Amino acid sequence: MIRQYKSIEDEVNDAISSVLNGGKYVLAENVESFEREFAQHLGVKYAVGVASGTEAIQLALMALGIGRGDEVITVSNTAVPTVSAVSLAGATPVLCDIDPSTLTIDVEKVQDRVSRNTRAILPVHLYGMPVDMNRLSVIAGKMSIPLIEDACQAHGASIDGKKVGGFGTLGCFSFYPTKNLACYGDGGAVVTDDEDLYDKLKLLRNYGQRDRYMHEVKGLNSRLDELQAAVLRVKLKYLDTWNSQRIKLAGFYDLLIKNEDVIKLPRIDGFTNVYHLYVIRHPRRDKLMQYLVQNGVQTLIHYPIPIHFQRSYAELGSEGDFPISEKACSEVLSLPLYPELKEAELEYISDLINKF
Ligand SMILES: Cc1ncc(COP(=O)(O)O)c(C=O)c1O
Repeated sequence: MIRQYKSIEDEVNDAISSVLNGGKYVLAENVESFEREFAQHLGVKYAVGVASGTEAIQLALMALGIGRGDEVITVSNTAVPTVSAVSLAGATPVLCDIDPSTLTIDVEKVQDRVSRNTRAILPVHLYGMPVDMNRLSVIAGKMSIPLIEDACQAHGASIDGKKVGGFGTLGCFSFYPTKNLACYGDGGAVVTDDEDLYDKLKLLRNYGQRDRYMHEVKGLNSRLDELQAAVLRVKLKYLDTWNSQRIKLAGFYDLLIKNEDVIKLPRIDGFTNVYHLYVIRHPRRDKLMQYLVQNGVQTLIHYPIPIHFQRSYAELGSEGDFPISEKACSEVLSLPLYPELKEAELEYISDLINKF
């Protein structure tokens, strides 16, 4: 993160300084411009800047009128906030297992999780890998269930050139500092092609207020601020270049890691994975992780605990209910990957894995 900041330091500092000197810190020109530029980048009509990825999902659900008594289908292998956003909207999360190869929602299993209370399906483009939105859209379309995409890890990922976030009725993004497109704090966005939903989202993120002191709906305070929007405007210009660099480095890992116990994520024709994370699987993951640490390489696990094993979401399932997710959580390991990672560092890490 520091390496990235150093590479654009002057531009970022200028942008921040100009906000500070301009004296407008909330819902002003930078947020408006960023919303326009981000929507254009994704190929959608509208974007609404909000306070985080979690609230992007919560607001997307609220904009669709989803709340108490409604069910939302999502995966057991995701960041907890995907699911907490559903709870925060007042709805009930319903978990679905993942595909053993891509580790994202098993599209074939979605139908089994649908009930008469299902109001939305919330696929997660995990690790930067697009969910098969074409297949999922057909399944959801037959049942007239809207899709809300959790694209918090997948800025710029695409299927046949169409960017994720633009497939569903609504798409949700996080700009948390580690993301492919990131600010220096918390931030998020909801995108859509639907003008009514766009209008509703703008009300919902700002106390439900259209004109000052005129509150049309019950809303919250979930605004992207001007400082973060100014930073995001600088960084958006580099997103394609940074994503290309991630893809190139992931290609090196694919090539250099030859350890036969390592399982890599598949490459799918027409799918552009933007490698928010480079995730491998290994049957002795914890030992591998320890070995890498001993040799100076820090890795992370996304995620070590499936949602239904979390104390806060124990009611969503028991051991054995989502076996592919449960197994994945015991095997996945995220190797260092960011645009500024040096090829020599990547070779060193790959060598270590091959020797393990
Ligand atoms: C898949 C996924 N969904 C939702 C979120 C929530 O985003 P935020 O941390 O901006 O609230 C994150 C990020 O942590 C995420 O990775």
